[in-house]
Amino acid sequence: MRCLVTGGAGFIGSNLVEHLLTVKDGSKHDVVVYDNLLTGHRSNLQGFNCEFHQIDVSEELPDHGKFDWIFHQAAITDPRHGDDSETLHKNIVGFERILRLAEQHKSKLVYASTAGLYGNGPVPMKEDQPKEILTAYGESKWKMDQMATPLMGKMHIVGLRYFNVFGPRESGKGRPASMIYHLSKQMVEGKRPRIFKMGEQIRDHIYVKDCVRANLLALEGKCGVYNVGTGIGTNFNELVAALNRCWKMDLAPEYFDMPYDPKTYQSNTQAEPSLAAANLKFKAKYSLDDGILDYIPSMKKEFNLS
Ligand SMILES: NC(=O)c1ccc[n+]([C@@H]2O[C@H](COP(=O)([O-])OP(=O)(O)OC[C@H]3O[C@@H](n4cnc5c(N)ncnc54)[C@H](O)[C@@H]3O)[C@@H](O)[C@H]2O)c1
Repeated sequence: MRCLVTGGAGFIGSNLVEHLLTVKDGSKHDVVVYDNLLTGHRSNLQGFNCEFHQIDVSEELPDHGKFDWIFHQAAITDPRHGDDSETLHKNIVGFERILRLAEQHKSKLVYASTAGLYGNGPVPMKEDQPKEILTAYGESKWKMDQMATPLMGKMHIVGLRYFNVFGPRESGKGRPASMIYHLSKQMVEGKRPRIFKMGEQIRDHIYVKDCVRANLLALEGKCGVYNVGTGIGTNFNELVAALNRCWKMDLAPEYFDMPYDPKTYQSNTQAEPSLAAANLKFKAKYSLDDGILDYIPSMKKEFNLS
């Protein structure tokens, strides 16, 4: 198949590109990447035999032929980006252009939404529960879901509301990279892992390989917008314990005051995963410990550990 991965030089996008180029089921894919390199990096695609175009998807798109599958990952991904109107404009107009491209080519489209749009609503979070929009980032993704929904059925479109994704090649994101990355870095530097007081906040951590698998399953599943999480909530104290287990360390957390405005900070995330299980046949395979253990060799390389 000929695939377009927007945001393919970013964290999740580059893992998708890698998977598409190395699937072992006999299928062969040609992969084209569009990325404006805002938070993505060419080095994330090192060694991957794909076609790269430095393109901002919110601007007029060139004609690079027909795509069978489009995986739309490109977005301003930092909820604290600082320029709300830019986040809204780039994410929404970019999606509009990708929707049009998919319509024109009759491509199957899978796009990235977010669990951020549930805000501080009840957990576990269900797809149809009221949304609590805390940031322009969340607003842009909610708008994308609303744009996509009426087209479902006329076109093959699936939106994936990722929860807290972690794994190789996330470090280029800087501060918005996962807690697993940041706490691991502190721990291997011999520092105590720093978490917000009193470590009771909850996250649904999903490993990037599961996230990639959800994208592939979405090509065959029923159109809709689905949670992509494990369904398991892990609080920050439990996360530190898991990191200590996996890194074979014994470092106590160091607590500090949560520095963000509580009105824009999402305290808890935990997916209700049953809709994705029913309609996409998606169920996360990696437990928290399995994901961290699979990720450790890549972190060791990055932290220059043997
Ligand atoms: N990582 C997570 O935990 C998480 C959670 C929920 C949703 N998401 C969504 O998943 C997708 C991928 O996120 P990620 O974690 O890999 O972040 P990322 O920042 O690494 O990837 C986003 C990529 O999009 C590119 N980009 C940004 N704006 C663009 C534009 N206008 N045109 C072309 N390229 C553009 C960036 O340069 C970057 O390579 C995003 O849509 C994000 O909102 C991620």
